[in-house]
Amino acid sequence: MKKVLITGALGQIGTELVVAMRRTYGTANIIASDIQPSPPAGALAEGPYAVVDVTAPEKIAAVVQRYGINQIIHLAAILSATGEAKPKLAWDVNMCGLFNVLEVAREAKAAVFTPSSIAAFGPGTPPDRTPQDTIQRPTTMYGVTKVGGELLCDYYFLKHGVDTRGVRFPGLISYAALPGGGTTDYAVHIYYEALKHKTYTSYIGKGTFMDMMYMPDALDAITQLMEADPDRLVHRNAFNVTAMSFDPEILAASIRKYIPEFALTYNVDPVRQGIANSWPNSLDDTAAREEWGWNPRYDLDAMTVDMLAQLKRKLGL
Ligand code: NAD
Ligand code: SER
Repeated sequence: MKKVLITGALGQIGTELVVAMRRTYGTANIIASDIQPSPPAGALAEGPYAVVDVTAPEKIAAVVQRYGINQIIHLAAILSATGEAKPKLAWDVNMCGLFNVLEVAREAKAAVFTPSSIAAFGPGTPPDRTPQDTIQRPTTMYGVTKVGGELLCDYYFLKHGVDTRGVRFPGLISYAALPGGGTTDYAVHIYYEALKHKTYTSYIGKGTFMDMMYMPDALDAITQLMEADPDRLVHRNAFNVTAMSFDPEILAASIRKYIPEFALTYNVDPVRQGIANSWPNSLDDTAAREEWGWNPRYDLDAMTVDMLAQLKRKLGL
């Protein structure tokens, strides 16, 4: 039986992953954890929760032992924009936190899922249909920790036989929880502002393409990869996955199909624009499709329809 610990469970991904996994595997088998003292009221609070700072290995080990954990989904991290403002914090949480999780997993013989990111690439990477295996010289602290994390997970598999797996997520778009300090966050905020004010000022410039994905596909990616036949996995820890690639103009045009008066303006933030410029325009995710059947369900317009409907309900509009 699966007994899963999710770290960073109160973030953008964890907020939805915990609830989805509890539906599939049973509430008592999915232990949510975060550095925050308690989950917000609602579905997430209806199940086991532990306060775990991933920079404290003994806290991770204690929860793993207490619940007999055999799988860790490690989501605790500092994202790209916050990572540039607080590089030491990003290093401590992203690198030391992952090291601690892998050490505990080795001792407990638990499998580990860790998301990498499009941030693991840099300006020297081929930007269009970026190959699975290519140049990785990121220029952000977040990206450095993501490449380091991919290698560390490979190391724990090769050296210690830990069943490590992971994907390189693109920007994730969702309505349940707000994104936590990334560069792709504009693609979430734009939907809130389109509904509330019919206008949005983008900090990412026109013509800046990045890969994106709707959260239901991201949740499927995690569970499908963790259920995949290990004999078919060649890449294991850093599968390129994507669902769509767009710039702010294309996203605005999709929103305008449903809110015709929506207006997009720009006030480009040089820090986040610089980060976005260093990332690919679009990924080639053939390896994920071939090795474990990756096949996203949502394209841009399908995502826009659902985002607007869900947010209308959430915002009481
Ligand atoms: P998030 O910022 O929304 O959530 C991160 C969570 O980690 C927060 O709840 C925070 O309280 C918690 N946390 C921070 N420091 C901690 C610590 N020391 N110990 C325990 N918990 C701590 O992030 P997310 O968007 O849910 O991302 C989860 C993972 O997915 C990260 O590894 C991130 O790099 C990766 N990822 C996310 C995206 C995206 O667009 N959301 C894209 C690519 C990769
Ligand atoms: N969405 C993330 C960020 O912008 C990508 O890893 O930081």
